Amino acid sequence: MADQWTAIADADELAPGQMKRVEAGGKRLLLCNADGRLHVVDEMCSHEDYSLFLGCIQDGRIKCSLHGSYFDLETGKPTTDPANEPICTYPVEIRDGKVYVLPTKAMGA
Ligand code: FES
Repeated sequence: MADQWTAIADADELAPGQMKRVEAGGKRLLLCNADGRLHVVDEMCSHEDYSLFLGCIQDGRIKCSLHGSYFDLETGKPTTDPANEPICTYPVEIRDGKVYVLPTKAMGA
């Protein structure tokens, strides 16, 4: 299957600290603005099936609000217990005022 960049938001849609649930390539993903830097990661925590959308973004990491694990938004790696598996991260690009993700290119997990 050819790589397919998918538009998921306007470039200025999210303020720092905000996130948005999106679907792309049949996956449930989260677009996160961490201090002005955009990241796309899996929506669901790797520890249990719980949405990271219910957590918050702090210092370049996303916190799962169920058991408190943090994941690095750049690498997807957990930085605190109890999660010990990474979440996937995805390439992001901004073009013509839109944010695009490449959902076929999961990295990290
Ligand atoms: S479900 Fe996310 S840390 Fe347990």
